[in-house]
Amino acid sequence: QATSIPADNVPDMEKRKLLNLLLVGALSLPTGFMLVPYATFFAPPGSGGGGGGTPAKDALGNDVVAAEWLKTHGPGDRTLTQGLKGDPTYLVVENDKTLATYGINAVCTHLGCVVPWNKAENKFLCPCHGSQYNAQGRVVRGPAPLSLALAHADIDDSGKILFVPWVETDFRTGDAPWWS
Ligand code: FES
Repeated sequence: QATSIPADNVPDMEKRKLLNLLLVGALSLPTGFMLVPYATFFAPPGSGGGGGGTPAKDALGNDVVAAEWLKTHGPGDRTLTQGLKGDPTYLVVENDKTLATYGINAVCTHLGCVVPWNKAENKFLCPCHGSQYNAQGRVVRGPAPLSLALAHADIDDSGKILFVPWVETDFRTGDAPWWS
């Protein structure tokens, strides 16, 4: 005795239900994915805390979860992530093991090299023409004309780190932000 039901024995109604299910599944899945960027696109940037912002991505392209990051990045750590507009951006771990509320854009303000962190010197040292920035990204030696740009590093409800454009005064210089 065969246990499976031959396809032509399945009633038409059942076939239709199955088709509908497949169709609904195919339609709702991409729609769901598209709604997220759609919603974040229209949220006003810099609204502090809720809405807006771009998730920080690690070297593998995964969203950075703050608690996980702090398990593997100790006090004083500065590690590159992908930030606003895809710019390489340092996440900063403060000496009290909390995450700084700002990220530092690693693009040198001279000619755009990505500036590495030098832990021994406690500075960012640009390999291209020797510009130096302190641990907060403030320029301390030229030819770079300006400090490294800032972004807010917020933590959303799910614990992920979100970069939000920094439009306020640059706390390192007291000046208006040159980058916004
Ligand atoms: Fe950094 Fe020139 S690009 S010093």
